[in-house]
Amino acid sequence: MATTITITGAGGQIGYALLFRIAAGDMLGPDEKVRLRLLEIPQGLDAAAGAALELQDGAFSLLEHVEVTDDPTVGFDGANLALLVGARPRGPGMERGDLLAANAGIFGPQGAAIAEHAASDVRVTVVGNPANTNALIAASAADGVPAERFTALTRLDENRARAQLALTLERPIDSIRRVPIWGNHSATQFPDISHATVDGVPVAEAIHEKVGDVRAWQEQQFIPRVAKRGAEIIAVRGSSSVASAANAAIEHVRDWVRGTEEWTSAGVVSHGEYGVPEGLISSFPVRSVDGAWQIVDGLEIDDWARARINASVTELAEERETVRGLGML
Ligand code: NAI
Repeated sequence: MATTITITGAGGQIGYALLFRIAAGDMLGPDEKVRLRLLEIPQGLDAAAGAALELQDGAFSLLEHVEVTDDPTVGFDGANLALLVGARPRGPGMERGDLLAANAGIFGPQGAAIAEHAASDVRVTVVGNPANTNALIAASAADGVPAERFTALTRLDENRARAQLALTLERPIDSIRRVPIWGNHSATQFPDISHATVDGVPVAEAIHEKVGDVRAWQEQQFIPRVAKRGAEIIAVRGSSSVASAANAAIEHVRDWVRGTEEWTSAGVVSHGEYGVPEGLISSFPVRSVDGAWQIVDGLEIDDWARARINASVTELAEERETVRGLGML
């Protein structure tokens, strides 16, 4: 049996970077056949149809079928995995509330369509921003689907954090472990090095040897660099992160389906862990066990880290209040 994967916004930039890697087996491995459903809005259909033609020309042996549609009932039909990439970007003069409302108008109906048409084991990864609150809106609209099946992508933030540590410490990327992202996929996110290791040694010790004052380095360099990396990419490249975002989405889904030994980061629903209000979709350190994310428990959080986590979680709670105030939750 093939896995059916729905990609919304498939005619966009990240969609284009995702499709061919999924078809090549990067997400589910070399033995799993895939059926792709490319869901777009009418304006994006031609771009998605063009990508579908190129998928044919890729002659991928794992690719069983591709369907292009602007109808969510068709797009989510039988989906085992859904990658919700298409979102409304912030337009000129748009306030935060307008952005949340516009996206609630997308992710609410998509959540409902998932509940009605997707496979009973559906697992949803929201990439489109504001990713955490979009995931919350979709989960709330998906009657009968456990909220644990809705996640927001924060793996790109974790990858960025690990890459910065590897560069600073001049060590290979795989030597850097346990760098969770807490909170929102936004500028308030908290990339946390307090549990991180480099070749088994605490990262904080190794950073201290390199830069001296670890706290100052975190506050003035590391955290802003990671949290504002998206803006840096736009400034240098002239366009937002695409291939690295697609890569992170592939790693997120791969780990969710196939499991992880080590911690990673994902926006998952809170049951009150670490004081995060219940129901918010917040990034946590997680492991994937038997096809489900588990929040790593029992970590010590000092006051400085606690304040950072709280600031980001407060932003998430405010986003939830805004959407509630609009009557869209
Ligand atoms: P893009 O503008 O190139 O593509 C978005 C596509 O979504 C367009 O083809 C558009 O027609 C489609 N779309 C819009 N509304 C839709 C709907 N209701 N149903 C189906 N399709 C719809 O944008 P790009 O670069 O692909 O980025 C997509 C999203 O990913 C953006 O919201 C961006 O902010 C977010 N992003 C998230 C990251 C993360 O780490 N969570 C990292 C990078 C980007």
